[in-house]
Amino acid sequence: MRDYRIEQIRRAEAYSHTEAYNKLALFEPGSWLSGPVKTILELLPHFQNRRSFRGLDLGCGVGRNCIPVIQALRGIPCVMNCVDILPLAIDKLRENAEKYRVESSINGIVCSADQYPIAEEQYDLILGVSVLEHLDSVDTLARKLDEIYRGLRQDGIACFVINTSIQEHDRSSGASRNVQFEINMSTGEMERILDAAFSGSEVLRRRVVHYQYDTYRESGIVRLDTDVLTYAVKKRS
Ligand SMILES: C[S@@+](CC[C@H](N)C(=O)[O-])C[C@H]1O[C@@H](n2cnc3c(N)ncnc32)[C@H](O)[C@@H]1O
Repeated sequence: MRDYRIEQIRRAEAYSHTEAYNKLALFEPGSWLSGPVKTILELLPHFQNRRSFRGLDLGCGVGRNCIPVIQALRGIPCVMNCVDILPLAIDKLRENAEKYRVESSINGIVCSADQYPIAEEQYDLILGVSVLEHLDSVDTLARKLDEIYRGLRQDGIACFVINTSIQEHDRSSGASRNVQFEINMSTGEMERILDAAFSGSEVLRRRVVHYQYDTYRESGIVRLDTDVLTYAVKKRS
């Protein structure tokens, strides 16, 4: 059955990222694409002694995180499967992978994270930066987290950055708007779901920071207020 709410949110998300990816170059100073998520770089020493590395980047965008990961692990044979629902993101990811000479290590895949099947015990690192809140339901989120846990190899790491407790306002009038995220949970609720999915794993990072930022909507620019949860776990041997 068609879900008009999800379709509407996905149109809004595609619009805002099409605008962003057409206007901003990867690593453009002063923009949200200026550099990778710092926590991800801080996790990389865990992989320095591996003989090979396999990663998965869900909602990879144009390569802001996966490209620096591959660059930092130079010398280790690396492959990253990089998944995004937006074809433009994957086109630009491929261009950027060539530009930064990591194209042989990056597989760009156009697919929704809801649908992308995660093979068991395949990955050293699974990233989900600003994507889990775009899964199509809370049930899908719980199922996907279970798949991610199973998809990690022993000592593999999952790292998520998730918008929670989100509010959306029209920037010029200040009027409150419907939030264009499929899942909008309180931070505590999201932490409880993550803790349940990764019980028995070692929590490497748990941090919440309040952010305000602007994004594009067809009606104009809106301001988002969000508590951004960074959560990283290591699957125990
Ligand atoms: C805020 S951007 C972040 C991109 C990248 N993770 C980064 O940190 O630069 C969110 C990305 O998730 C993608 N996305 C949104 N919903 C998705 C879904 N259900 N499945 C896969 N990708 C999705 C968008 O197209 C967009 O490229």
